Amino acid sequence: MELEQIKQAALKAFSEAKSVDELYEAHVQVLGRKGAMTVVMQSIATIEKSQKAAFGQACNVVKKELEAVYEARKKDLEEADLKRALNDRWVDPTAPGKKFDVGHLHPLSQVQNDVERIFSSMGFAIMDGPEVESEYYNFEALNVPSWHPARDMQDTFFIKGDDGEASEEFGSENFNRSATISNEGRLVLRTQTSPVQIRSMKKYGAPLRIIAPGRVFRNEATDARHEHTFDQVEGLLIDENISLADLKGVMQEFLTQLFGRVMKVRFRPGYFPFVEPGIELDMSCTLCNEKGCRVCKGTGWLEFMGAGMVHPNVLAAGGIDSNKYQGWAFGFGLTRLVMMRYNIDDIRLLSSGDLRFIKQF
Ligand code: PHE
Repeated sequence: MELEQIKQAALKAFSEAKSVDELYEAHVQVLGRKGAMTVVMQSIATIEKSQKAAFGQACNVVKKELEAVYEARKKDLEEADLKRALNDRWVDPTAPGKKFDVGHLHPLSQVQNDVERIFSSMGFAIMDGPEVESEYYNFEALNVPSWHPARDMQDTFFIKGDDGEASEEFGSENFNRSATISNEGRLVLRTQTSPVQIRSMKKYGAPLRIIAPGRVFRNEATDARHEHTFDQVEGLLIDENISLADLKGVMQEFLTQLFGRVMKVRFRPGYFPFVEPGIELDMSCTLCNEKGCRVCKGTGWLEFMGAGMVHPNVLAAGGIDSNKYQGWAFGFGLTRLVMMRYNIDDIRLLSSGDLRFIKQF
């Protein structure tokens, strides 16, 4: 019977198909719109009435069977295709992995993190203050009136001429990046982190133990040792019965932890309007360990920071009773510390954005 022949031919074609495409072609030949099966089924019109039902049924059985065989064969061929594709993509599990370029913190941030960690462990809170500051906070409140010759020590960038105009366009309230100006004089780029002393005293009162790392600006001619923008760390400790002996202990401990070896400090007299007495603090030379070398010019010591007992006028500006409380403040250059720690001889490298430099840290 013709039906049986078609079926056998189709099964043979299906099983001989070597790809999904060939199989599909065979399927079209039999079951497509003009396929052999289709043509046979259309011939039902010419068949004797009494046999129509049996013929139709027989056709449907064959058709169903062929479709099932086709689907099964298709699945097999697809799996074989996939296996072949996977085999083609040969993987060498012993090959070294691809290296991703991972960035890292800037050396300045690394050292700042260390500084914050060490002072935090000694109970100091970490403060932030505006970089665009009022003349009042940057100078007056720190015992530097406008006529004072000490103003010359820190030449400043003034914002918006000298008309003392208000400042809303400078910085956002939310981030406290900018001073708002009322009776606080002109706006300047802060020349030091010391204004954060006043802001912290006013906000938190005494006793107080803070450091304030941050960016400062000076009108400097740039060279290997000077930049118009650099970073400082301010420190302030206020309590009852505080003396410079406490400062010595704190700084010795801080430097010892930072450099990972025993460090000493020494005081020399120094002048800053906001402290009395004022001192300069030196630390052991990191290179020769006090023996004397080229870096410390044979002295064994490196100049590290300015400090002193907070001037009563400054305590008053911060709203603190100088009869009950006293304390010390210090300020050191974070940028300089980074340069000392890593032996960097040109300050400009730190903000150059030069990857050949940055990648060394
Ligand atoms: N603000 C001073 C400077 O920038 C450093 C300093 C801070 C000195 C606190 C004494 C006390 O030079």
